Amino acid sequence: MTGSSDNPARPAAGVRLCELAEIPDPGAKGFRFRAERWLFAGFVVRAGDLLAGYVDSCPHAAWPLAALDDRYLTRDARHILCTGHGALFRLDGVCVAGPCEGRRLFDWPVTVRDGAVWTA
Ligand code: FES
Repeated sequence: MTGSSDNPARPAAGVRLCELAEIPDPGAKGFRFRAERWLFAGFVVRAGDLLAGYVDSCPHAAWPLAALDDRYLTRDARHILCTGHGALFRLDGVCVAGPCEGRRLFDWPVTVRDGAVWTA
């Protein structure tokens, strides 16, 4: 799995991801980390006061959510879309439609410090 907590590619807390301004409001940005054969993929959603990080792995079939880089949100930016089988998630990570309704994305804690986004 790309997102499990024992994935050695998952960055520790305190890793700088990007400037906050690099994430559109509303919008999302994906990040990938590699360690030998391991890959960790996560993304950060920004919408007003909300800034949330999630593992880029759908709770339905563990596929990555976005087919295109950084295209995690629906066109109206109200939901996160999994392009695999069309699941819709609220921006707080809870699935509200699709094959994993009621389940939620795996959190990838992030924080803002000095105008930048960091793992937490
Ligand atoms: S893998 Fe996400 S809805 Fe099926």
